[in-house]
This record gives sequence, structure tokens and C-alpha cells, in this order.
Amino acid sequence: MTAISNLIDNNRAWASGKTEVDPDFFARLVRQQAPDYLWIGCSDSRVPANEIVGLDPGELFVHRNVANLAPPQDANYLSVLQFAVEVLKVKHILVVGHYGCGGVIASTEHTHHGLIDHWLTPIRYLAKEHHDELHALPEGSPRFDRLCELNVIRQVRNVASNPFVMTAWEKGEDLTVHGWCYSIENGLVSDLGVSVSTNEEVERMFGRV
Ligand code: CO
Repeated sequence: MTAISNLIDNNRAWASGKTEVDPDFFARLVRQQAPDYLWIGCSDSRVPANEIVGLDPGELFVHRNVANLAPPQDANYLSVLQFAVEVLKVKHILVVGHYGCGGVIASTEHTHHGLIDHWLTPIRYLAKEHHDELHALPEGSPRFDRLCELNVIRQVRNVASNPFVMTAWEKGEDLTVHGWCYSIENGLVSDLGVSVSTNEEVERMFGRV
């Protein structure tokens, strides 16, 4: 039996380990000012936000959902985004996809998966939009990997054209949206080169949205 009590034991060991090497760790966490980063990533358990970028708890505000989407009508994501931008005043928003994303792959399949098919609809449309580019690539992982990247780029566009973000830029606030893709195979992040820091940059990168 997989015992839940193991987790409590692990927790006790983790907490005492933390204070052993850094007696001020939890006291500092309580006093922690606003984090500078918002991470929008996939729910996939193999993509632990803090660990990948070597940050402690308290340094990264995290929103995760299947296939790291930033849908303009999703109240959960929008609440997180507004809080991060207007209250925490984060300096960077990281949209982080990952190669081999099960959500991205599922969106291309013709079988039914249930409610998740509704959630993944934007990726299905995106794949249609980029049909020629995707079909020029070998079937299987090269095509899926490119779709993972295209999905991140589209979500960067969604975040960057969000009214909370656009308003922050109009006020001259220091905020950059980045698009990254993480490889589970080697643990490395690739910067997709779509970072934007002003409304003008967004228009140059994506056209008027
Ligand atoms: Co995923």
C-alpha cells in the first residue's frame, strides 16, 4: 500500500532539513515580499516550477493547468494574472510549455478523452492554423514538439494582449512576458525568443491583436 503517512514523514524531514542548513528559512518565507515572477506552466508532475529555475518557495507565483494555456475567458487564470500584475507587480511572466506535453498530443488525436477535449480546443485550432508548417515536419515528436512551441507562443500573445498587462505597460511598468519550452529529457529550458516588454513590441511581434 502506498502510505499517505510517508508523505507526512517526508514533510517533517524536509522541514527540519531546511532549518538545519538555513535556520532563518521559514522566518524569511513569512516575511517574504512579493515574488518577481509569475509562472504559467503545465500541470504535468514532471515540470516542477521552482526546482527547474532554482528558486525557493516564495520567489515564484505559480499557475498551472493542462497544456499551460492562458485562455482569455478563463476566470482562474485571469484572477491569477490580475493579482500577479496589479498586486504583486511581478517583473516577469514566464509561459512555460514542455516538449512531449500529453495535453498537446491529446489535442491532435481523434479519440475522445472527455472534458479535457473542450479545454484543449484552442490547441486544435492552432494546429489547423499552422497545418502546412506542421505537416512539413516528420510525423510524431518533431511535429508535436513544434506544436508545443507554437502553443507557448500563442499563450504569450494571449498574456501580452490581456488588458491587465496592456494597462501595466501603458503606465510604464517594468514587466516582460517570456515564452519558454522545457525538455523533460535533459531538464533544459529553451527560450523561444518571443519576449515582449511593451505594447509596441507586442504589435511588432504579433501584429495588432
Ligand atoms: Co503538459
